[in-house]
Amino acid sequence: MNRWISSELLAQFDDAGTSAHRLFTSPHAWVERLGCDVLISFKHDAARDEALAGLREWEVQTGFQSARVFSRFLPKQNAERVAPVLVAGDPAAPLESVVTECGIRYGIDFGAGYSAGLFIDQRANRACVRQLAPGRTLNTFAYTCSFSVVAALAGSKTLSIDLSKKSLDRGRKNFELNGLPLEGHRFLADDVLEVLPRLERRGEKFDLIILDPPTFSLGNRGRRWKVEEQMEDLLRLALELSAPGASLLVSTNCTKLNRPALERMVRFVLKTARLGGDISSEPQLPDFPDGAGAETLWLRIR
Ligand SMILES: C[S@@+](CC[C@H](N)C(=O)[O-])C[C@H]1O[C@@H](n2cnc3c(N)ncnc32)[C@H](O)[C@@H]1O
Repeated sequence: MNRWISSELLAQFDDAGTSAHRLFTSPHAWVERLGCDVLISFKHDAARDEALAGLREWEVQTGFQSARVFSRFLPKQNAERVAPVLVAGDPAAPLESVVTECGIRYGIDFGAGYSAGLFIDQRANRACVRQLAPGRTLNTFAYTCSFSVVAALAGSKTLSIDLSKKSLDRGRKNFELNGLPLEGHRFLADDVLEVLPRLERRGEKFDLIILDPPTFSLGNRGRRWKVEEQMEDLLRLALELSAPGASLLVSTNCTKLNRPALERMVRFVLKTARLGGDISSEPQLPDFPDGAGAETLWLRIR
């Protein structure tokens, strides 16, 4: 799967108002465009150097000129994650920038830690949210609230939950970047697994629920979250909060939960909850080869 995107695809992204997308994917590295800048993610130094040399060739072929190139090591353990480092370009330029996806603006910060602010493999799912135009959206593990932004642009009231207050502050900024007032939108810095039962007790219901958790994390009071062990419980809690006809996005990067395993789990939880539902997926993204990016499925409650 060593391949760079074509000039034609690059032009299609520009025409669609999208400046955040993949440029290259190989087994040991991938390259993303984030506005004027480029980020190389690599598993070892040789893969980084090869991707950088490939980028320079691809730039000559397509006429795209990156302002800066950052790189970040992809460690096996979360604890070893570090922020991207500048490989080429002006070291005095601000680390914050803005990218667009279908004309929607999102803040990027190369100094904020391992992740710069937008998971580009969720592009098709964000587009799907905009089409669904839900009335009430629950965005769990919301990070910088990109799903809430698209839902709000489609007229939804939103509740974004994330442990990180800093990420939610960036989420509020993403609302502002798109001229969205904050009224009707809630941002809750708390543990999803503690908040969902509270919402259920209050009788809250949602038309769209986003479940895109990390593979591993430490929640309130050091509670360990491991997606392959707890996704089922999370889905059960989410079903309690689903309005009739609600849509749920179930997504993970965990290699142990591939598409068939995810679908089996969803069908099992539906059955035990005595609910009917339809499962579907968005088509493969043109800049992501098969198997790259998150495994996702949509569940529509009948
Ligand atoms: C993979 S990111 C989610 C990406 C997001 N869905 C998006 O598309 O932008 C994981 C997020 O989950 C948050 N998180 C991890 N454990 C959590 C928990 N137990 N409760 C709430 N948020 C949590 C992290 O702070 C981080 O922002």
